Amino acid sequence: MTSNSELFGNVLEYPDPSAQQRFNALVGIDHIKRRLVNEASVLIDPQVLEQWSAKHHGSTLDAVRAVEERTPLIVLAGDVGTGKTELAESVGDPIARSLRLPMLTLYPLSLNARGRGLVGEMTTLITQAFEHVRSSLGQARDSEGQIRNAAILLIDEADAIAQSRELAQMHHEDRAGVNALIRAIDSLRRDRLPVLTIMCTNRSDALDPAIARRAAHVFAFTRPTTEQRVHVLTSALTGTRISAKAIEEAARLLGAGDERQWSVTYSDLRQRFVPDLVLNAYGSDTPVTEFALIEAAASFVPTRPFGKIDV
Ligand SMILES: Nc1ncnc2c1ncn2[C@@H]1O[C@H](COP(=O)(O)OP(=O)(O)OP(=O)(O)O)[C@@H](O)[C@H]1O
Ligand SMILES: [Mg+2]
Repeated sequence: MTSNSELFGNVLEYPDPSAQQRFNALVGIDHIKRRLVNEASVLIDPQVLEQWSAKHHGSTLDAVRAVEERTPLIVLAGDVGTGKTELAESVGDPIARSLRLPMLTLYPLSLNARGRGLVGEMTTLITQAFEHVRSSLGQARDSEGQIRNAAILLIDEADAIAQSRELAQMHHEDRAGVNALIRAIDSLRRDRLPVLTIMCTNRSDALDPAIARRAAHVFAFTRPTTEQRVHVLTSALTGTRISAKAIEEAARLLGAGDERQWSVTYSDLRQRFVPDLVLNAYGSDTPVTEFALIEAAASFVPTRPFGKIDV
């Protein structure tokens, strides 16, 4: 049996103030955040819907059963650097708070668990990971049926196992991995265990149809719009003397246009553009100026989109 430290990356527990901070720091995607927290809460604890139904309709509607029958699987799909991992690692906090869970644990399937392509390896590892999560829940509910322990299993960079089995070049071992994954998720649903699986992928188009069909929701992540870029820059530069007009101009320059084929990602803004701006000003011991902002925006080279080749 593979040890837990090999199966999983950094295990996190919620509620947790630093996860709350990370969740709040994601800007411009409030619609995704809201929907994700609602979806995830209902998938982890379908009882909240039954309570809602009883309150407003006097009984459990058949429509509620339809919601409950869905597979507790959520897919976050989209371009690089658009917040999928950050959201997947922090959303446990608002879920735990909204469901008032004493403990929600995140198990991120580690890269090692992908296996090295040996026959049966990936299948075994996936099965072991799900078994570990299942046993770690212990008595998931108390005598009144309230959840005591819930879990999120995160499969980040899921492309390798979630990709379509239809692809001719797909290796036999990968196909077995997809099957194991589907079986494991289905069995969690059958046993009504409070476990949600979140899968992140860059390639929603290549997602295996069997996985796409089961997913309760596929959230699509895109690069920020001009308005969302304004949002990120404004939040980063509040406290400087830079005007709203200059921020809007910089946000416009950071979009796709004559100068560049594609616009910046959220991570381009947060991890490259803003830090460069700060470090340049620090290096010259000056404030961050509008001039520096506009100049940096005009010359910035965004990360190329997943699957696109530089020309
Ligand atoms: N909506 C956002 N608001 C603010 N910052 C963001 C947002 N989305 C992403 N970021 C920043 O970009 C960084 C990278 O995001 P993340 O790792 O979640 O991207 P990803 O979608 O998982 O990309 P990849 O597909 O390459 O794994 C985050 O740590 C964060 O700093
Ligand atoms: Mg990621």
